[in-house]
Amino acid sequence: MADDRAGAILVAGAAGFIGPMVLRVLLRETDRRIVVLDKLTYAGRRDNVTRAPERTEDAQRVTFVQGDICDLAVQGLLEAYGVTWLVNLAAESHVDRSLGAAPDFLRTEMQGTLNLLEAVRATPAVTKFVAVGTDEVYGSIDRNAGYEGERWYALAREQSDLRAVVREHLFREGAPLRPGSPYAATKAGADLLVHAFVNSYRRRDGSPMPCVVTRGTNNYGPFQHPEKLLPLAICTLLRPDVGKAGRRRVPIYDDGLAVREWLHTEDHAYGILRALQSADAGATVNFGSGVRCLNRDLLLAVFREVSARAGTPFASLAEASFPAARAGHDLCYGADCSAARTDLGWEPRHTDLDREIGCLVQWYIDNLDWWMPVWESADFDAYWESKYAARMADAGNAPYLFYDEAATDRSLAQALV
Ligand code: NAD
Ligand code: DAU
Repeated sequence: MADDRAGAILVAGAAGFIGPMVLRVLLRETDRRIVVLDKLTYAGRRDNVTRAPERTEDAQRVTFVQGDICDLAVQGLLEAYGVTWLVNLAAESHVDRSLGAAPDFLRTEMQGTLNLLEAVRATPAVTKFVAVGTDEVYGSIDRNAGYEGERWYALAREQSDLRAVVREHLFREGAPLRPGSPYAATKAGADLLVHAFVNSYRRRDGSPMPCVVTRGTNNYGPFQHPEKLLPLAICTLLRPDVGKAGRRRVPIYDDGLAVREWLHTEDHAYGILRALQSADAGATVNFGSGVRCLNRDLLLAVFREVSARAGTPFASLAEASFPAARAGHDLCYGADCSAARTDLGWEPRHTDLDREIGCLVQWYIDNLDWWMPVWESADFDAYWESKYAARMADAGNAPYLFYDEAATDRSLAQALV
């Protein structure tokens, strides 16, 4: 499906995790030039951008500019490169870090989005701005459905009821915003700014500001920084013996009884493309796979795959984890994505999570050169020490059975919520 309309695409924040897949899909599906604007924080890497194109000739269509979305010069970039489509992925994206560094999140998420909106407002040539948001802005289904604290844990252990409660309370786009972390609150603020601009300003021809908010569920795929759950677990099981502590184990919050909905970055990238092509100004669109499970079932699949592919005995894996916590942990996310299907004709393709976890583990096995430098770095070790080391020492070395032993061979397909 070649798209030969004139105009470049500016993708802010494309040097992180989701960005390389967005670049790959935009290069595959359009003939446009792509300008990447990225500050290269700890989460961004220049080589993520260079690895993105599937064909070597596509690399010539990508220009990299190091810069901050909060910098007022964005408008000049839009004009200089003839940008007509803008996608914003730039963000501080890790919930745990937001608990200790809220001002950084406030600045990038809100001031950065505001600056991009002002640049779009001043540049009539821009015909679409997609602000990439998150389902976390809706808050957590456990709070919304009246299943807080012990009631949630009881429900989560009783999987058949869990499925019914989650499905009844899936978040639609019009749901009230009840963010539960500084990260989610600043993302919600960014969404509200986008809608306020659509409501407040018009183009000279009377048309609304062409801005759209998308809300994706938890993404997985290649290039994810090891601080997030899936890569953290995989990297730990593959290379536990690093850092000052000499050994890392997988920190499991709330006994693995939280639910997440897992969306492959390639499906998310196609959703963003569809939003660029055909979402209406002012629209909000959820993107999720419908594939939801408890963290403990997801992690069991990771343990099984690492055991099979790297030869680690499964029996040793219980000692490879320990109980940990996140303040204000949102225990359940799930999104209703019927609008993306009906309004944008979008459909997720990566829905066999058993197979996908195998592919993901294999990607980390095959790309040690990509993640080991981060995994062994002094910065990441300092992060690990400050966040997990004391709790891991308190937990001792006794086996921590966060999972139901009878269910260790159960496929993820059987465990979906
Ligand atoms: P990431 O943390 O992996 O990457 C963020 C990128 O933004 C990095 O390259 C970083 O250098 C860059 N950046 C940060 N601050 C910047 C600034 N001020 N100016 C310019 N660049 C800056 O994040 P990700 O997981 O790829 O997420 C991308 C977007 O998608 C975020 O807006 C996030 O909220 C949203 N999202 C993520 C997920 C997920 O599961 N990862 C799910 C739904 C939505
Ligand atoms: O829902 C979309 C969001 O998904 C995005 O907006 C965020 O940018 C992205 O980071 C992700 O947020 P989560 O907080 O859900 O992702 P994380 O990988 O940090 O955690 C996933 C689940 O695993 C969550 O229930 C917390 C749990 N967890 C996480 C870490 C880091 C653990 O049990 N142990 C851990 O060490």
